[in-house]
Amino acid sequence: MLAKASHLLCATNCKRLVLIDVMLWWAQADLVCDQVKSIQGLKDGYNIVGLSQGNVVARAVIEFCDGGPPVHNFVSLGGPHAGTASIPGCTLMSLCKLANALIRLGVYSPFVQNHLAPSGYVKIPTDLDAYYKGSLFLPKLNNEIAIYRNETYKKRLESLNHLVLIMFQQDAILIPPQTAWFGYYADNDFGTVLPPEETDLYKEDWIGLRALDEGGRVTYIAFPGDHLSINDLEVRDFIIPYLKSSPTGEVRVLSS
Ligand SMILES: *[C@@H]1O[C@H](CO)[C@@H](O)[C@H](O)[C@H]1NC(C)=O
Repeated sequence: MLAKASHLLCATNCKRLVLIDVMLWWAQADLVCDQVKSIQGLKDGYNIVGLSQGNVVARAVIEFCDGGPPVHNFVSLGGPHAGTASIPGCTLMSLCKLANALIRLGVYSPFVQNHLAPSGYVKIPTDLDAYYKGSLFLPKLNNEIAIYRNETYKKRLESLNHLVLIMFQQDAILIPPQTAWFGYYADNDFGTVLPPEETDLYKEDWIGLRALDEGGRVTYIAFPGDHLSINDLEVRDFIIPYLKSSPTGEVRVLSS
């Protein structure tokens, strides 16, 4: 669902690199917000399972959707929550060479920000000024910029019953894999990955992660494999239990 992929650059093998014409993150989040408001069965609340970059949309729906139904549990698999330091899935394909060339030209330029979906959550730890100035999405989602910080986003994330953050330890798509737990590189330092509780986002509690965690409402799970490698038994044991508490039993899956 969600992404309107451009066929210009993305003929094959594009599962991980979605080039979007018009439907940028804001538009995707707005669309899902409208959808969940219009579905009667969701009005008492629902659970979200986010896959990969779908987690960015999921969190935007939780934080930004005015008048939306409550989200009970949010189960996040391999989400680039704290950013990612390269374009996902791009090492070999020539398509990705092009994408990475665009990135080198300026990941935070308006052109790239408006045409290349993953650029919405690329955060190069050694180029943070450009990120804060040019990135259109993640700084807002994470309440990173003090003057734009909005308590409403924090309250809404904090209102989850439970947040489940699943990391894939050999994740070759998310750099570093710990971003799935809100861990990330220390500022200006590609050599150090901070665990979630040592980041400013957590310590200063910009989005309510710390409050949720201190209330015992965050479960951090690590699986050994690559991006989204999870088997049926693990789904049964680690995900399904969080989908049962919704009064309606409704589940939405956001993926891309
Ligand atoms: C914060 O976000 C809410 C919900 O979208 C909005 O109504 C409010 O105006 C925002 N506050 C500020 C100071 O921007």
